[in-house]
Amino acid sequence: MVYKSVKEFLNSESSINSIVVKGWVRTKRDNKHFCFLEINDGSCIKNLQVVADEGIEGYENIKNINTGASVNIYGDLIESLGKGQKWEVKANKIVLIGEADPEVYPLQKKRHSDEFLRQIAHLRPRTNKYGAIFRIRSEASFAVHNFFRERGFYYIHTPIITGSDCEGAGEMFRVTTLKEGEKITPEGLKDDFFGKAAYLTVSGQLNVENFACSLGKVYTFGPTFRAENSNTPKHASEFWMIEPEVAFATLKENMELAEDFVKYLISYLLKYSREDLELFFNFVDKGLEGKLNNVLDSSFERLEYRDAIKILEKSGKKFEFEVGYGKDLQTEHERYLTEEYFKKPVFVINYPKTIKPFYMYQNDDKKTVAAMDLLVPGVGELIGGSQREDRLDLLKKAINDLGMNEEDYWWYLELRKYGTVPHSGFGLGFERFLMFVTGVSNIRDVIPFPRTPKNLEF
Ligand code: 4AD
Ligand code: MG
Repeated sequence: MVYKSVKEFLNSESSINSIVVKGWVRTKRDNKHFCFLEINDGSCIKNLQVVADEGIEGYENIKNINTGASVNIYGDLIESLGKGQKWEVKANKIVLIGEADPEVYPLQKKRHSDEFLRQIAHLRPRTNKYGAIFRIRSEASFAVHNFFRERGFYYIHTPIITGSDCEGAGEMFRVTTLKEGEKITPEGLKDDFFGKAAYLTVSGQLNVENFACSLGKVYTFGPTFRAENSNTPKHASEFWMIEPEVAFATLKENMELAEDFVKYLISYLLKYSREDLELFFNFVDKGLEGKLNNVLDSSFERLEYRDAIKILEKSGKKFEFEVGYGKDLQTEHERYLTEEYFKKPVFVINYPKTIKPFYMYQNDDKKTVAAMDLLVPGVGELIGGSQREDRLDLLKKAINDLGMNEEDYWWYLELRKYGTVPHSGFGLGFERFLMFVTGVSNIRDVIPFPRTPKNLEF
């Protein structure tokens, strides 16, 4: 008995006698004396067709074998006479494992809206589109590790529970074992689990910087948490971020790394996830393949923040949010720059220090910091990063100017005290990247179980 996945059977070099395939029924077509079943087991987007003749073992259950039911099919893998597939299974026994009542099983139709499927996030990976998304997500994760490993980076597991606010934006979830009625006060916190305020991390950067300044080239890839109350299609409260950090690298090298990284991920997926990506090329965005190839073929723009502001001011566009030097760029501004003006990915660099976090390297003009945001079509900001402030006095000043507590960052400051080096890094939002590469327009649809404000089902 040969038990393999649908994917392996479909890629078989030859016919195989005596096989078993296990999966879920996608469709059933009944004829008088036989029936066709399409079986999917999640190993690939394609189904394996099964032909079952009346009278074979288990056929008496056929009326209960409906869309969504799980089955084991025994038989032979033979060349298919039908169009569209090379192999099919001629069954000699079918075993119904778990029924799915057609009166209530929610995935009956061929196509459902994304909004509907979000309400059944526990079942949506059984559809073609979501199966494809989560296989692509898996492949992309491996691509991330391959990219860095090929370049001599070490993978650092930075902590999820933290005492410091990396982005200084105060958008952190509290971690506590205090019970109802016990107060979160400076006094009360002394009795809390860690004896001080604790949070879920918004970024692994501060910790990974310590490892860059010891192992040289490092990255972290893990979940990050933000209690931003922004209900937008590109913000999630829990998302995954990839953060490389490189000792002795300046902003210029940081951009080169980011550009190589994005191109590598796309090329990798075009090679290893092509079958799944084709669904998005055909049904989500007809121009998507061209857009991805355009990214591979173009050299990303490098644009000073002040020039970005000038372009936006001269655009003649009516933006919802005002444009002006010293104001942060909004998604609509970002998308104009990358989609309409440059028509390719754009690094916006050297932002005013007033709109960026404390850790960024202060430029000689004393007004701007060596920041970089990578903007891409369809998404806007995909990457945020910078060269880091490596001068102890300037870093202390930035912390104090923002009213943050220097003592909380003593270990981070010591990097600048003992053998300080210029270093740089960035964070790529993994879900934003998946949106970009699939053309999916809502972040809730590229993460298995999305967490957003007032939404914690599943
Ligand atoms: O620009 P951000 O806030 O940068 C940092 O956290 C730095 N500490 C990274 C670093 O330099 N190591 O976030 C980085 C990226 C953004 O560009 C965006 O792609 C993504 O993370 N991101 C989010 N993705 C989904 N939902 C959210 N709420 C996000 N916030 C940021
Ligand atoms: Mg950012």
